[in-house]
Amino acid sequence: MDVRYTWRGEFENAEVNALHAEGFGHRVLEDDWSAQVQRYSLGWVCARDGDDLIGWVNVPWDGGVHAFILDTLVASRMRRHGIGRQMIVIASEEARAAGCEALHVDFGPELTSFYIEACGFTPTPAGLMQF
Ligand SMILES: CC(C)(COP(=O)(O)OP(=O)(O)OC[C@H]1O[C@@H](n2cnc3c(N)ncnc32)[C@H](O)[C@@H]1OP(=O)(O)O)[C@@H](O)C(=O)NCCC(=O)NCCS
Repeated sequence: MDVRYTWRGEFENAEVNALHAEGFGHRVLEDDWSAQVQRYSLGWVCARDGDDLIGWVNVPWDGGVHAFILDTLVASRMRRHGIGRQMIVIASEEARAAGCEALHVDFGPELTSFYIEACGFTPTPAGLMQF
């Protein structure tokens, strides 16, 4: 499998909207991801199989030492080939290189083996207000 990964690589909003809809099981929206990540993110990772965007993760931050993982997405046809893990590796390397001291993520219990065991996050008490 020849997957190409880029940090802060180019993407079309429609590509991310399609991955997001498939990954989170909703209709395809018309969100302006490009504007959002340019304004609020330290970066993002694109994974491409040829021309196709088959993985994407957003890494927003506080402008200082905290970065966050949001919207980790891999196309369903490409899952369980290590692509999600590799995107997190790249996100963590870039966050560290940018001077971040912590990379945060929250997730449902079904993804414990992905984030904790495969990607190396440390389990920690955390809080969430869901609106
Ligand atoms: C979660 C997601 C990004 C994982 O991407 P992926 O490329 O399939 O993950 P990887 O192949 O790197 O997985 C590495 C390991 O993590 C674990 N893992 C991955 N996906 C898992 C899942 N859905 N459930 C449980 N464990 C999982 C496995 O141990 C896996 O190794 P294995 O395939 O040898 O068993 C992908 O399933 C996805 O896009 N899901 C829908 C969107 C979503 O829920 N995103 C997370 C939001 S917090």
